[in-house]
Amino acid sequence: MDLSKLNHFRFFGLRLTSLISKTIFLIVIAFIIRTLFLPKSFEFGIEQGLSGLKSGNPQMKFLEVPQIVWGLNNQKIAFARACLTARLLNRTLLMPSLSASLFYKEIDQLEPISFDKVFQFEKFNSLCNGFVQLGRYSDLENRSDIVTVQKGSGRRWTIERDLDQLNELNKDANDGSETIRIVGKNPFLWQDHWPVTDYAKVFECLVLVDEISKEADKVVAKIRELGSGSNVVSSNARVPYVAVHMRIEKDWMIHCKKREQRSNVSDICSSKDEITTRVSKIPGLKTPMIVYVAVADALLEDGSILNGWSHGLQPVEKKKLGVVEIYKKHPYLIQSAIDYEVCLRADVFVGNSYSTFSSLLVLERTVRMGGCRMDHVSSYAYNLKGESGGPRPWMTSLSDSSLEAISYGSNNISCLD
Ligand SMILES: *[C@@H]1O[C@H](CO)[C@@H](O)[C@H](O)[C@H]1NC(C)=O
Ligand SMILES: *[C@@H]1O[C@H](CO)[C@@H](O)[C@H](O)[C@H]1NC(C)=O
Ligand SMILES: *[C@@H]1O[C@H](CO)[C@@H](O)[C@H](O)[C@H]1NC(C)=O
Ligand SMILES: *[C@@H]1O[C@H](CO)[C@@H](O)[C@H](O)[C@H]1NC(C)=O
Repeated sequence: MDLSKLNHFRFFGLRLTSLISKTIFLIVIAFIIRTLFLPKSFEFGIEQGLSGLKSGNPQMKFLEVPQIVWGLNNQKIAFARACLTARLLNRTLLMPSLSASLFYKEIDQLEPISFDKVFQFEKFNSLCNGFVQLGRYSDLENRSDIVTVQKGSGRRWTIERDLDQLNELNKDANDGSETIRIVGKNPFLWQDHWPVTDYAKVFECLVLVDEISKEADKVVAKIRELGSGSNVVSSNARVPYVAVHMRIEKDWMIHCKKREQRSNVSDICSSKDEITTRVSKIPGLKTPMIVYVAVADALLEDGSILNGWSHGLQPVEKKKLGVVEIYKKHPYLIQSAIDYEVCLRADVFVGNSYSTFSSLLVLERTVRMGGCRMDHVSSYAYNLKGESGGPRPWMTSLSDSSLEAISYGSNNISCLD
């Protein structure tokens, strides 16, 4: 901010030759910084006060959304949409329930799990301060001051109609009810009104609770430990690893074949052979290298996913690492969150560009890299052929105006600054 202000001054042609004009310049700068910072800290104080206040604040308004369902990454996207809706309505999002199981149709099997059993509540609010805030039901002053809003569904409920409804709600938001309760079927999963950067901002505020991140620490430690056995690096150096999110289970194969037919493309499904071959041709990959293969549990049974990797690559999965017990202690959602974390921390990640899990990982890895830098790629898509037969380099285009490419998959995976 300060640098751009300095440039601004030069732009206006201020020539700073004499000592006097330099002094004046410094006084002016000091004044600007003062005026810029004072209201900021003032605002900050108010915001802190607001989120610190529990009941008794007549201004606090809330948004309530239904239980969030489906796979980890669908839940993350739906949660982000709930947050961005709350932001649009200038309301605090009442901490929603996530779902511990993968079911989404069998209502009785959804296994609600509180958001703060998975992600840190206070941390979320501090990282997302000024952007979006989560509230607790104990913050509510009048639990019957609720207006219920039915979200539409089906083909006739277009993105435009959805946005119109939200904007309509916003008009009388300040004198509206304390709580707006949104009901409807998966109301946030498919309607998208926000740019990728808004989603990225919400995801950055999602930090796993210690109990889960410690489980990921254990898995990563096991990978590095096994890697150090075959690696030439000295034992106290950090052992690098590659993570491959391998989608070859039967369900996925049926799904991806159908999608290929529907969209008349042939690059969604990859066989195990294609994946292992492409991974071995990643440019500049040092061997020996340990490869963590993230796969559905059904594929762990016969151990065959560890066969067929090229010389120099040492594949491991949960069973080989001896960490099956770590995962087994937890429900589906947490298992998925651990695997996500292990892939996020990998030095190189290889996934399928049509998988939401892979796509969100690459989004987060791109953000951590500081944005679009195709010269610093550390993620690849094995379903797309890159140079010299390797997987294609993959970075998320953070300037995209919607999350569509990420939530539905794409074969256009290079980013533009
Ligand atoms: C947003 O809500 C806060 C109180 O929660 C209120 O003070 C502020 O004026 C609102 N801003 C807008 C733009 O409505
Ligand atoms: C709570 O809200 C309801 C509905 O708006 C209203 O009828 C009731 O008077 C409120 N109760 C209190 C104690 O403010
Ligand atoms: C599918 O794509 C191929 C080329 O990629 C094209 O020749 C063919 O006409 C397309 N089929 C349909 C039904 O669009
Ligand atoms: C691929 O993505 C980039 C960045 O989002 C976009 O500018 C470009 O038009 C896309 N290309 C195609 C063929 O869709």
